[in-house]
Amino acid sequence: MARPRVLVTRRWPEAVEARLAAEYDAVLNTCDTPLGPADFRDALGRFDAVLPTVTDKIGPEALDVPRAQTRILGNYGVGYSHIDEAAARGLGLTVTNTPDVLSQCTADIAMTLLLMVARRAGEGERELRAGEWTGWRPTHLVGTKVSGKTLGIIGFGRIGRAMARRAHHGFGMQIVVHNRSAVDPQVLAEFDATQVDTAEDLLNLSDFVSLHCPGGGANQHLINADRLAHMRPGAFLINTARGEVVDETALIAAIGAGQIGGAGLDVFEGEPNINPALLACDNLVMLPHLGSATRETREAMGFRVLDNLSDFFEGRPPRDRVF
Ligand code: DGY
Repeated sequence: MARPRVLVTRRWPEAVEARLAAEYDAVLNTCDTPLGPADFRDALGRFDAVLPTVTDKIGPEALDVPRAQTRILGNYGVGYSHIDEAAARGLGLTVTNTPDVLSQCTADIAMTLLLMVARRAGEGERELRAGEWTGWRPTHLVGTKVSGKTLGIIGFGRIGRAMARRAHHGFGMQIVVHNRSAVDPQVLAEFDATQVDTAEDLLNLSDFVSLHCPGGGANQHLINADRLAHMRPGAFLINTARGEVVDETALIAAIGAGQIGGAGLDVFEGEPNINPALLACDNLVMLPHLGSATRETREAMGFRVLDNLSDFFEGRPPRDRVF
């Protein structure tokens, strides 16, 4: 039987590309340039599987074909809000993602941002590199203590829990959770956490707020001007989820007005383009979407896509089917 034809939309770790090429009739994207909607439409007519990632905008335009040769989109990444669900379903496509394998590293980056913004690490490094450090003094770059404070976590899936583990067991933080469904009391007990009904309740109670909910329509601007107004004065917002979850214009206004202490962002609305007003905020730490960026995790994500592909083409339900 002919091997399935597979298109990979970006460069992947070498070890994963090698296995993919050995097991499939694979076309790799060796120049690592993103595909446009016309490239996707073309791919849908020629490949059995397309393996996209979070930077591929697979909206209705990219899926606007009468019928597809492609039967599965094996997404490299846990988030899939970049794939238009209705249009993909309309073509009968199976879509899979890569959960679990990136939870620890993404929580590490959320904790990194939390510590950096609270302890003014970005400001300190900029000062030192600019040759402007004049030496230790009691009032120099005084930040906010993290240990023992209250962390509010919005979205208590795998990554939210990994964040709670670090914060509670590592830093003695109290954990408050807001999640769309009720969290198993045994899971809450692991972190001595309290679940609250609304985002507003959580914001009122938290010194730090970390977002771990999915992106997409339902959570578009979940953190808007009204909700930012519920945050405690001096509190910090951390976003490693998706850029669209935070209304950046409202965030810039809240930081500018001194309404909150600052923010740590790994994801942005319209990334990789960054709103210039964000660059002007000193009490903001920004990273270029590094949540899963470790060698171990990026390889594991690729191998997880391969697991999904072999399940699919060997007639088993893919382990990470999202629809
Ligand atoms: C994802 O997997 O959705 C991340 O944003 C990239 O690792």
